[in-house]
Amino acid sequence: MSRSAHPAGPRHGDVMPEGHFTAPPADLNRLDPKVWSQTVVRDAGSGVVSVGGLDVQALAEEFGTPAYILDEQDFRSRCRAWREAFGTDADVYYAGKAFLSRAIVRWLREEGLNVDVCSGGELTVALTAGMPAERIAFHGNNKSEAELEQAVAAGVGHVVVDSFDELVRLSWIAERHGVRQKVLIRVTVGVEAHTHEFIATAHEDQKFGLSLSGGLAAEGVRRALTLDGLELVGIHSHIGSQIFDMAGFEVAARRVVGLLAEIKGEHGVELPEIDLGGGLGIAYTSEDDPREPAEIAKSLTEIVRRECAAAGLTPPRISVEPGRAIVGPTAFTLYRVGTVKELEGLRTYVSVDGGMSDNIRTALYDAEYSVALVSRASTAEPMLSRVVGKHCESGDIVVKDAFLPADLAPGDLVAVPATGAYCRSMASNYNHALKPPVVAVSAGAARVIVRRETEEDLLRLDIG
Ligand code: LLP
Repeated sequence: MSRSAHPAGPRHGDVMPEGHFTAPPADLNRLDPKVWSQTVVRDAGSGVVSVGGLDVQALAEEFGTPAYILDEQDFRSRCRAWREAFGTDADVYYAGKAFLSRAIVRWLREEGLNVDVCSGGELTVALTAGMPAERIAFHGNNKSEAELEQAVAAGVGHVVVDSFDELVRLSWIAERHGVRQKVLIRVTVGVEAHTHEFIATAHEDQKFGLSLSGGLAAEGVRRALTLDGLELVGIHSHIGSQIFDMAGFEVAARRVVGLLAEIKGEHGVELPEIDLGGGLGIAYTSEDDPREPAEIAKSLTEIVRRECAAAGLTPPRISVEPGRAIVGPTAFTLYRVGTVKELEGLRTYVSVDGGMSDNIRTALYDAEYSVALVSRASTAEPMLSRVVGKHCESGDIVVKDAFLPADLAPGDLVAVPATGAYCRSMASNYNHALKPPVVAVSAGAARVIVRRETEEDLLRLDIG
């Protein structure tokens, strides 16, 4: 996706530097509510940005930088919006891989959401934070025997089975525990959905699930129905991530209902559940236009009802698994600027005190982010900037192209919004960086929900 440059584009020279950049915003001090969480505001007098009633200067002082600052009110209201949109006839499973901590699990429980986990570690966090086991779904394409054992012993609501091998393995484990484990079978429906495109071609060439068109899904159902340790309750489909176009979900829903009809024809059973996965996109920049939960819920429930009516099926209970759409917009990463290097005719490199160890998404997916100066307002002209980290790698980029005020200086605080999903959960210790804390703010109070790593943490693992 290429974007056109604005006549007032880069500050220096006529040659446009390579990269994706948009026009500088009319007002660099304005915080677009699309990309910032609900309670973020810039004080009209001081120009300092605050969230949950706390200003970023105070937050940086108390908790240090870099830090993920999470807006609890925003998180809870997104949970509620999803819950209300789907009503009581559907279940919302928050995808824990986006970001999971015990505080998050408690909030989910309080807001009536379930949780989807995809490892023994995530399952342990969910269980120790008091999520009832029956409200947990367990995913993964290669769950270990120990993980399946843990899930069955805990009594998770359902396991989403991904392969023939796993069907047998899980059935055996369930039988040993004297239970019939509820399972959904994960199918690949032949839809690959991206942010701005929707391709129906080579998508079955992947590690997840059993393909519909190749007949593997139908075979998985046959096998599941014969295994004593399993109770097959439904079909699962997840088509991708950061999706804005509902068309992919609609095709997926139609094909999953088609499989339910085939199952009824072949086995005389109507499976009671379908899970349509996660993948709903969020706004990382002002150019992104995400769908609202209510619109998503309406579109999915309507299509399932319509297809079921046409196929003579009782509509199954629907579930969805949004991760990014709930937690992504709720947090920003707060960094302190360390160096500002101006390259005449190119761009200005702004080095911050974190980088690819706290946000790998730019390096890994060429992801786009926004950034703003938050410790003060500025009336300086826009400066085309690249926000980079402090790691020993030139691909260590946090925000590829963005406009910051030209008077930006070392010591200023900048914040990158929409980093709640897949940033802390994919953080690394590259260069022995210490993973930043997650600080939850709400109604004038801040609370560390995941503390900053210390050098002692690193040394504890390095047993010499
Ligand atoms: N359900 C299943 C089965 C999934 O595999 C995923 C994500 C989700 C739900 C949640 O998807 P979401 O609503 O968060 O898009 N690391 C990548 C994203 C990987 C997503 C993997 N599966 C990123 O940073 O964009």
